[in-house]
Amino acid sequence: MTTKKYLICAALLFSTGAVQAQALYNPATEAKITTLIGKMTLEEKIGMLHANSSFTSTGVKRLGIPEITTSDGPHGVRPEHGRDWTLDEGVDDAGTYLPTGNALAATWNTQLGYAYGSVLGSEANYRGKDIILGPGVNIIRSPLNGRNFEYLSEDPFLSGRMAIGYIKGVQDQGVSACVKHYAANNEETDRGTVDVQMSERALREIYLPAFKAAVTEGHVHSVMGSYNKFRGQYATHNKYLMNDILKGQWGFQGLVMSDWGSVHDTKEALLNGTDLEMGTDLMLMYSSVSQTDAAKGTQDKNIYDRFFLADSALTMVKNGTVPVSVIDEKLRRILRVMYSTKMIDGKRAKGSYNTKAHQLTALKVAEEAIVLLKNENHLLPLKKAAVKSIAVIGQNATRENSMGGGSSQVKAKYEITPLQGLTSLLGKQTTIAYAQGYTIARGQKADQRLIDEAVAAAKSADAAIIFCGWTHGYDYAKWDDNAYDAEGVDKPSLEMPFRQDKLIKAVLKANPKTIIVLMGGGPIDVSEWIDDAPAVIEGWYPGMEGGNALAKVIYGEVNPSGKLPMTFPRKLNDSPAHKLGEFLGTNGIVKYNDDIFVGYRYFDTYKVKPQFAFGHGLSYTTFGYSEMAVTKAGKNVIVKVRVKNNGSRAGAEVVQVYVNQNKSELKRPEKELKSFKKVFLKPGESKMVELSLDEDSFKYFHETRNEWVHEAGRYTILLGAASDDIRGSRSIDL
Ligand code: BGC
Repeated sequence: MTTKKYLICAALLFSTGAVQAQALYNPATEAKITTLIGKMTLEEKIGMLHANSSFTSTGVKRLGIPEITTSDGPHGVRPEHGRDWTLDEGVDDAGTYLPTGNALAATWNTQLGYAYGSVLGSEANYRGKDIILGPGVNIIRSPLNGRNFEYLSEDPFLSGRMAIGYIKGVQDQGVSACVKHYAANNEETDRGTVDVQMSERALREIYLPAFKAAVTEGHVHSVMGSYNKFRGQYATHNKYLMNDILKGQWGFQGLVMSDWGSVHDTKEALLNGTDLEMGTDLMLMYSSVSQTDAAKGTQDKNIYDRFFLADSALTMVKNGTVPVSVIDEKLRRILRVMYSTKMIDGKRAKGSYNTKAHQLTALKVAEEAIVLLKNENHLLPLKKAAVKSIAVIGQNATRENSMGGGSSQVKAKYEITPLQGLTSLLGKQTTIAYAQGYTIARGQKADQRLIDEAVAAAKSADAAIIFCGWTHGYDYAKWDDNAYDAEGVDKPSLEMPFRQDKLIKAVLKANPKTIIVLMGGGPIDVSEWIDDAPAVIEGWYPGMEGGNALAKVIYGEVNPSGKLPMTFPRKLNDSPAHKLGEFLGTNGIVKYNDDIFVGYRYFDTYKVKPQFAFGHGLSYTTFGYSEMAVTKAGKNVIVKVRVKNNGSRAGAEVVQVYVNQNKSELKRPEKELKSFKKVFLKPGESKMVELSLDEDSFKYFHETRNEWVHEAGRYTILLGAASDDIRGSRSIDL
């Protein structure tokens, strides 16, 4: 299906039940909220500020205020586990498993961001969830962060644009999105204790813009505070982040919830902007007791009274430490979200679950996310008529990923693995020999027997395809058996695990027509074999339809159009977080000395050659750029360019606009992404593409003046197909 047809079809399907996201603040609702709050006892008020089970918070029955039910997020509605932490059995909770965050970002297609959010919103409605805990927009600072797979990009602008689509998609279904983890949560190892220190400029230019876009343009209803500390104070009750910036400068009217167990102090949480406390460790500690009690029907209700925003908050209000107006303001925010999601005073859409349309969105996102990194001598796409036999190698070819990674796990209705995708696409026409090649297991070394088997299969096939790279964990049935792309752990290094390098080198020798498909949450060290590999694809965690999407790309039924949302360094030490800054820090403090030089901002400015640059991604066709023009239009700058598909296949190009300030008072990156557009072109077709840059596109955050500044002078507008593939530039005085 063409993208245009898909979008029309998706729009029609999603139109049932979709409502325009309600503005959070409107005077009529505020009056109703005042009345409701006026009827509540102090105990009822405090009751609403904390969880009353693993994923719900209390309502006030007598006043018609329901419980709030939250659910992860971010790429599917989480499996059911009732009110405790034990997965329910025999329930209908196997849903749509979407490609993960960085796959979504790799599409560079904001309409797909919306479609993605719509699926989540619709399935959340069907499953009775009020808030979806996503999107995750933390900046991909180091390739080692265990949760990069849930996040979007190293670039704040791309992250923001994709997040806005996602949020509107969710909220137009009448469900609230919850952007997370606010803020500066860029490592997992010590996420609960680490104190992040960074300059104000890095905060404003790199780490906050996606959150700001989510709030001011996406109109997100809720924000999740993160686990870490920021400049000495826990982020979830950080005065500067919450009161001054989020609720002050950005005017956020919705609710701030904690991450699960990120509140540490009652008074700070009350005064510094936490509105709803979820998942506090106390409950985790007592969960086994509560589950036994629950089974006996005598659940220990007191557990939740021990939350920071429970009994101790009540005491503080009663003894005058904190005025009741502080509590009322929190309730107002919670109730606003309830009104705008029609939890009170309205009828929620029913939503739908596991529909063909949802699965089609999962497929479409995967198809557009896959990045063709390298393709020498047009090895790809494979041609069915010419390639009579293939060897499919690697445990990732048969690995299902939906239940891996931690809190973002999804019970997928089905998950098409790469081997299944290839088998169903090829039918009987092509012989497929599968060889496992390596074993995913803790401490696993190379297994010569498996390598020999793979080499033999590759030798006797016309082409070989190795599915390799990362995997979430070893045994997804065990919560703490996470390994690489997972919550609570960072990758120990960038090296391929399970000595996959050895396998790849042997197979490349055995069959020069070997295609490498990397799976997982981003960069991996490919330096041992990259020069010998003719064709390389990045497949991410591509969701329930991933295997089909990969097969279609490999055989040219889909022309790849994904572009990297993060730089792939050649070596870990080339990454700015590791080279200039600290990753994991020392004595509980991590200093972001890499400052604003994150991702390509570093590689370009410091002239470090990456393995694959930000924005890179090849196609089976080629695109020509011509007639570039840059003009002023009031305070905006309009960039126009004609893009032509020079080949004989339909394809899509992502036109990327970067800005360079020729001379600035403070050092600025060589270039910064400020606009992009994905354009779909038939063979031989050309289109005039227009992109607009507003005045903010030229500003930077001036540390000593403590404000965004525009410096008069010359700027260069760079237009390209990747950050390292600039096709034209124009200078302009502004
Ligand atoms: C994660 C959040 C998640 C929450 C609830 C936490 O451990 O950091 O992202 O939403 O758990 O599952």
